[in-house]
Amino acid sequence: MNKVVLSGSNLSKSFGGVHAVRRVSLELGPDAPVTTIIGPNGAGKTTLLNLLCGAIPLDEGKVEFKGADITGVRMRQRMKMGIARTFQHTGIFGRLTPREHFFLMARNLGPGSKWHSIEQFLDIFNLETFADVQAESLNHVSQRLLEIGMIVSASPSVLMLDEPTAGMDLAETAQIASVIRELRGIMQVMIIEHDIDFVLDISDRIIVLDQGAVIASGLPDEIQRDDVVAAAYMRRGHR
Ligand SMILES: Nc1ncnc2c1ncn2[C@@H]1O[C@H](COP(=O)(O)OP(=O)(O)OP(=O)(O)O)[C@@H](O)[C@H]1O
Ligand SMILES: [Mg+2]
Repeated sequence: MNKVVLSGSNLSKSFGGVHAVRRVSLELGPDAPVTTIIGPNGAGKTTLLNLLCGAIPLDEGKVEFKGADITGVRMRQRMKMGIARTFQHTGIFGRLTPREHFFLMARNLGPGSKWHSIEQFLDIFNLETFADVQAESLNHVSQRLLEIGMIVSASPSVLMLDEPTAGMDLAETAQIASVIRELRGIMQVMIIEHDIDFVLDISDRIIVLDQGAVIASGLPDEIQRDDVVAAAYMRRGHR
């Protein structure tokens, strides 16, 4: 049986003369519960995420979700189907506390759900201590965790995160890594990331993009030893 959850075949997207994504194929499935996409600035990572979640239309290619062709399905509909992503701007309510946020999502809990209580969320997302503090007063990492928690509470099949550790220090990054480990195997996770230590730590598979194309894909060990990957980073520079 085909267990692939989300796949893209020969995905291509140009902006004017820029080939942001060129004939990229990838599969998100249980053999790699946490897949990360890395690559130099401008490699096409965010564009690829946008194509998979339907935020922008493809020039060419096909996207399938649980075996069904969803190439023409819009982002809003894909989200309802269980393809979730975070946005640049946090989707949280400043005046509400984490407990209130999760309370609002409580209709997603209970029988049939992967989750059973608000306490469970506060625990997984490391928010117990701040459960009753207004979200606007939380620090950056806690706001980020709350945002991811809100999305996760809807039990999506796929969770896509674009640079979740951006602007975070080591301890904060470790909190994000711990959440990813909790979610691993519960849902398919795809992460775009620049922090290579974080990537090597949490990934089951790493896909490397350069100039819109996949130049390598494999286990963290394999990618770390890949000369082509090293050369791409040297040439293009990275943060
Ligand atoms: N809406 C757009 N209009 C025009 N060009 C775009 C658009 N979005 C992306 N591009 C271009 O496509 C290429 C890939 O951009 P993308 O944002 O996908 O890269 P990225 O790998 O996410 O980079 P970064 O690591 O800096 O986030 C870049 O050359 C970028 O300038
Ligand atoms: Mg990007």
